[in-house]
Amino acid sequence: MKPQAIQIKAVEIAMAIVFREKNRIFALETAHTTYQMKVDDYGFLLHLYYGGKVSGDMDYLLTYSDRGFSGNPYDAGLDRTYSMDVLPQEYPGLGIGDFRSSAVAVRNGDGSECCDLRYVSHEVRQGKYGLKGLPAVYAQEQEAQTLEILLEDPVSKVQVRLLYGVLEREDIITRSAVIRNGGSCEITVEKAASACLDFVTGEYDLLGFYGRHAMERNLQRTRVNHGIFRMGSRRGTSSHQYNPAVILAQPGTTEDAGGCWGMIFVYSGNFLFEAERDQFDQTRVLMGLSDELFHYPLNPGESLIVPETILGHTEEGLGTLSRMFHRCIRNHICRGKYAHETRPVLLNSWEASYFDFSGETICALARDAAALGMDMVVMDDGWFGKRDDDNSGLGDWTVNEEKLGCTLGEMIGRINALGVKFGIWVEPEMVSEDSELYRAHPDWALRIPGRGPVRGRNQLVLDFSRQDVKEYIFDRICAVLDQGNIEYVKWDMNRSITDVYSGENCQGRVLYDYMAGVYDFLERLTSRYPHILIEGCSGGGGRFDAGMLYYTPQIWCSDNTDAADRLRIQYGTSFFYPVSAVGSHVSAVPNHQTGRITSLHTRGVVAMAGTFGYELDPGKLTEEEKAEIREQVKAYKRAASLIQTGDYYRLSDPFRDTCAAWAFVSENRDRVLLNAVMTEIHGNMPVSYVRLKGLEPETLYRDTKTGETYYGSALMRAGLPIPGGMGEYRAYQAELEAVKGVRT
Ligand code: GLA
Repeated sequence: MKPQAIQIKAVEIAMAIVFREKNRIFALETAHTTYQMKVDDYGFLLHLYYGGKVSGDMDYLLTYSDRGFSGNPYDAGLDRTYSMDVLPQEYPGLGIGDFRSSAVAVRNGDGSECCDLRYVSHEVRQGKYGLKGLPAVYAQEQEAQTLEILLEDPVSKVQVRLLYGVLEREDIITRSAVIRNGGSCEITVEKAASACLDFVTGEYDLLGFYGRHAMERNLQRTRVNHGIFRMGSRRGTSSHQYNPAVILAQPGTTEDAGGCWGMIFVYSGNFLFEAERDQFDQTRVLMGLSDELFHYPLNPGESLIVPETILGHTEEGLGTLSRMFHRCIRNHICRGKYAHETRPVLLNSWEASYFDFSGETICALARDAAALGMDMVVMDDGWFGKRDDDNSGLGDWTVNEEKLGCTLGEMIGRINALGVKFGIWVEPEMVSEDSELYRAHPDWALRIPGRGPVRGRNQLVLDFSRQDVKEYIFDRICAVLDQGNIEYVKWDMNRSITDVYSGENCQGRVLYDYMAGVYDFLERLTSRYPHILIEGCSGGGGRFDAGMLYYTPQIWCSDNTDAADRLRIQYGTSFFYPVSAVGSHVSAVPNHQTGRITSLHTRGVVAMAGTFGYELDPGKLTEEEKAEIREQVKAYKRAASLIQTGDYYRLSDPFRDTCAAWAFVSENRDRVLLNAVMTEIHGNMPVSYVRLKGLEPETLYRDTKTGETYYGSALMRAGLPIPGGMGEYRAYQAELEAVKGVRT
């Protein structure tokens, strides 16, 4: 690169965070967005604006009038026009006369509940801040800047360091907060968000993702109305039920146009999102830790780090917003060797044989995997302790050599000799009551004294907030991983957390400390085994979030492998999460979760919108099916890098349209993989046309199978007719390549 170019870049970066001394306005600038806040005369940090790029100071948006029953801070004297209940704020505390939802609530040493935060100082640094012990966006020094603003309650001396990370080119702003007890008595943090956004004007739709086990992340779009809308988890995990990621959109925003804001919490435990339209039609949204089962005690000098929220905004619709988050998660959340590497095509034993297998079964799967061109065999649940069903054995991480008929090392050796990699399933956070571990250490499970614990899948949760428990399990898991050439681990977590108690002194902090314990375990595991690909899982997608993706670059998307249901699950997942994160397999029919029969072709096309693999017994397939799978694996491998790193476009809405369609487009727009599955079949049906997106309008594209050519403009404006035919859930896949040198 020429020295001049470097200089220009440095200047651009220096502009990302500006503090204008004269009116104490902070302006954070990304390529297409502006974020502004202001320290006002009383030291309150007021939020001014977050949205598409604007010039100038946005404090003209603030208006002042006497509002009945909206009180005025003491230091405003007799000025009745200045009220925290009305003004937009950056990090509103409970107890200061703002009656909307607060970002932070503290019980002080004297029992009072008030957190009146005022500006003290700030600092701008090159590079992106990190959060000790917690997952967070990372960036190269020159890719990001950090703004740290110190606020303090002058009476209680509670301090909050607000952290802002600005990734200018990515149009991403991250927020976090560190709450410190700067006083001399113990305090309790009762509520803590990492991001608050106040909008003084406008109407907004809220797009959230709800679901259940085996049917995660359905899209729900509602208007933000008067009242408080809360969505979150108190299950100890981010949950199947509500994902910690939401979009605020101007009404009418579509895939291709309109202003929208994304917020994703980089955390895998309990969370709370709130949206409120207030008495003056202003909108406040908050993302942070759940305020239930949470009362975090801080002794003088101690701090609590509130996990990060990633913010993104675009004026160009939901598709652009999604691609922005895909890039951010792929390049600034996922880490390690596999973050950018093509993932192995794997054959998982779960739906092939459940608990009923021997070492020979796994080796037979490996032979099939080799014959079908797959890369890896994964031995799922059932290989350890006494574990022939899901009622026992969790916690006993010793290989059941009797069941395998050999040592783990020997079995892996046989598998590797076939040219096949080996992966294994674990569920470190759990214990079965029927296990050696539980018999020896019943107090290691989360329990409330005097009460029978709530069982989930007949298992209890180990207290990962305790160092000794974590240490023991870490050693046991490492002892297994050291037995052979293990190249993949599926980290499962198969119940919600109840009985939140870890002794009298730990009340109120257990779940946060538990999550920190899991992250610490994963951090140590990934540093010790940097070559191992870890796939997260929690009964499928019960902990599918950006926090886990920091340690596990892919997550089993759902226990539902039915291709038709997956269309919806993967559609909802795609709003924030990149395809490289989505664990997706071809399974047998009739499908084990729904009984539905879909063609192998359809199952393949759907699983290719993910990390791709198989979860069936090839021994039960016909020769034709095996031949088809061989071709499918080849097709996937040809397209793997386009699928994992290309731009993802949603081309229809599977909740509404008769056809579910999506496409991957390479960065230079030369290659396209178009996918469509008919979701309905009727007599004498209208033709479904799919309009592509993201192509070069003037480039000629050739369908690699049919040889037909079309201009990008035609494909984007008129679309392609999906070939008709009989039968439900027909899939269609087309690879299009730019014809070199042909442009109009
Ligand atoms: C969970 C996972 C499955 C499988 C089973 C094993 O349900 O989501 O994929 O691993 O556990 O018990």
